Amino acid sequence: MATPLRHAPLQMQPPVLIDRDAIARRVAELGAEIDRDYAGQSVLLAGVLKGAAIFLSDLARAITIECTFDFVAVSSYGKGTRSSGAVKMLKDLDHPIEDRNIILVEDILDTGLTLSFLKRTLMQHHPRSLRVAALLDKPERRMASVKAEYVGFTIPNHFVIGYGMDYAERFRNLPDICVFPPEAAD
Ligand code: IMP
Repeated sequence: MATPLRHAPLQMQPPVLIDRDAIARRVAELGAEIDRDYAGQSVLLAGVLKGAAIFLSDLARAITIECTFDFVAVSSYGKGTRSSGAVKMLKDLDHPIEDRNIILVEDILDTGLTLSFLKRTLMQHHPRSLRVAALLDKPERRMASVKAEYVGFTIPNHFVIGYGMDYAERFRNLPDICVFPPEAAD
């Protein structure tokens, strides 16, 4: 069992970058787009834990075609705001994906290292199709050539928290997407 994280609360309300209403409107649009693209078929939403959990649960409810979901977990940033660059699978999907339409659901496409690793790994299991839905895209920091077919918002290079996204496991429960104040980093 990991040691509980104890931190002082933020001294200020972090600046809101994208508010909950804008998120809800955009997620509804993405759901409608997925409905159109896969009309008459089914999709498996494969969420990347833990950051994509809230996005996936809203996106799934914006989709009306037959849809199931599953989750993978990969190593992430740990406590800080910078990527270590190395990606490792911590939890694989529970069910086979051969001949299924897979949509990998990710919170942020940043350097692209996570998604290029996951796409390569999942392709080895011969899905019928494999696409990516990323709530946020930070193209400035891209290191691996990977694109998301469904993007919620393209944002500048801020470290963001809320709507599932964390700093050291905190702030995932903020309903809006906020900019993490750099002075609060420890
Ligand atoms: P990538 O491999 O660099 O594309 O990183 C993807 C993962 O890094 C995301 O799924 C997030 O978990 C994490 N990440 C990247 N940028 C941020 C951020 O601004 N806030 C919180 N997590 C982030």
